[in-house]
Amino acid sequence: MFTASRIQADSKPEFYSQLVQQARGLLHGEHDRIANAANLSALVWHALDGINWCGFYFFDGRELVVGPFQGKPACVRIALGKGVCGTAAATRTSQLVADVNAFAGHIACDGASRSELVVPLVDAHGALLGVWDVDSPELARFDEDDRRGMQALCAVFVDSLQPRAAAA
Ligand code: SME
Repeated sequence: MFTASRIQADSKPEFYSQLVQQARGLLHGEHDRIANAANLSALVWHALDGINWCGFYFFDGRELVVGPFQGKPACVRIALGKGVCGTAAATRTSQLVADVNAFAGHIACDGASRSELVVPLVDAHGALLGVWDVDSPELARFDEDDRRGMQALCAVFVDSLQPRAAAA
């Protein structure tokens, strides 16, 4: 059985399916970016084992700027193309990094981080909103199930910002 905090599931996909449902409930009816980013960070922080940071970097039109998160204080600004976050933003492709020391240009905000998963946030019009970043002190903490699960959580977040799209 795969367990984490208050969620009990038989598999990781099932765990994420329940977490996505919780996220939908938590963000339902609210469209404020900071409020929803803060609550989603807290939800994931308390649901997942083996993570030391999770949170948002938002694109300000020029670079990534740290947003709501859980964990130790982090680097404030990251240029597009730099580090794991900047690479996810520039390529608009999620980055699953089993060993951050093997990722050229990784930015070490918390020296304890050993693996990382970053998902780009892109709105319905294709505009870059930022990235969602999760770090772990364990090597290879994240796999393809985590990538799919985090992408699903990010979709809930992005949808929550667009009342009309969410209602359609
Ligand atoms: N490691 C990230 C920087 C952000 S922190 O992990 C919170 C990177 O390489 O982009």
